[in-house]
Amino acid sequence: MQQTLTLAPTPSGLSDAAAFLLRGALVAFPTETVYGLGADARNATAVAKIYEAKGRPSFNPLIVHVADADAAQRYVDWPDTAQILASAFWPGPLTLVLPLKDGHGLSSLVTAGLPTLAVRVPAHRTAQALLRQFDGPVAAPSANPSGRISPTTAAHVLAGLRGRIAAVVDDGPCAVGLESTIIGLDGPSTLLRTGGLPAEAIAAALGHPLAVPESGRITAPGQLTSHYAPQAHVRLNATEARAGELLLGFGPMACDLNLSPSGDLVEAAANLFGHLHQMDARNAPIAVAPVPEVGLGRAINDRLRRAAAPRDTPL
Ligand code: TXA
Ligand code: MG
Repeated sequence: MQQTLTLAPTPSGLSDAAAFLLRGALVAFPTETVYGLGADARNATAVAKIYEAKGRPSFNPLIVHVADADAAQRYVDWPDTAQILASAFWPGPLTLVLPLKDGHGLSSLVTAGLPTLAVRVPAHRTAQALLRQFDGPVAAPSANPSGRISPTTAAHVLAGLRGRIAAVVDDGPCAVGLESTIIGLDGPSTLLRTGGLPAEAIAAALGHPLAVPESGRITAPGQLTSHYAPQAHVRLNATEARAGELLLGFGPMACDLNLSPSGDLVEAAANLFGHLHQMDARNAPIAVAPVPEVGLGRAINDRLRRAAAPRDTPL
């Protein structure tokens, strides 16, 4: 066990955070999607600490965070499609999977030995400030123990990882509340994970539809169906709570907590993990009202299906 510091998003807090990263320690920090658990991506020991702190299966590769597209191009090949998507959506909730460049200098633990790298430029002011202060690549999965709900506040991070990481930079709740959308660009442009940026917007920027991986295949390696699971049992498409259940609502309805009383999918995405955390803390089974399968609703439903799946079955 180590002491976990809470750092303010001030110049002195960020310089402490960057110093921890440089020494190979783990620092959780806010992004616009969820809090990330950061380590120096060039330092294999530091990266190994991520897997250890999360209790994460070691075959699951990590996203590398950089301050801008120029920094990304030090590590990956840069096809026209990458330039189009980076110009349109970076900084923002979009991760690109691209072929690793020779001499990239990253720990192979980051990619779990794959010839590709997932890279992203977050928009959050504190993530940006930390990346610029650190001036290097930061590997960061979501800052939660493996298989648990992604954290959207510093309190969520501490609830799962206190004593296992050096520090968390606290800059309040995350605005998007869903992880980044992941697009594979090492072949035909492929939707690998739905997320905070709607796939429709990406296809529109590219001018062609996205390929979708054959169903049943794990393309984001290590993604388990139950990856987003709360401890409680979860039942989907519920219209009312059964005895003993808590009801998570969507749209105008009577319920214990509502993702968005007005039926707004952006608001629902921002609330999703926070509400699941709150309900999970009450140790009762959770029933969830239907969420429409459009736009951000697709990513929300993907997370909810994982939350409801039997534990640790492959996707
Ligand atoms: O919003 C986000 O993306 C957050 C914040 C912190 O940036 N990060 C995040 O990381 O969600 P994580 O580690 O929880 O999820 C990374 C996903 C995993 O499903 C992993 O399998 C996939 O990215 N991934 C990483 N590298 C990959 C690669 N080379 N090819 C395919 N999938 C990859
Ligand atoms: Mg995660």
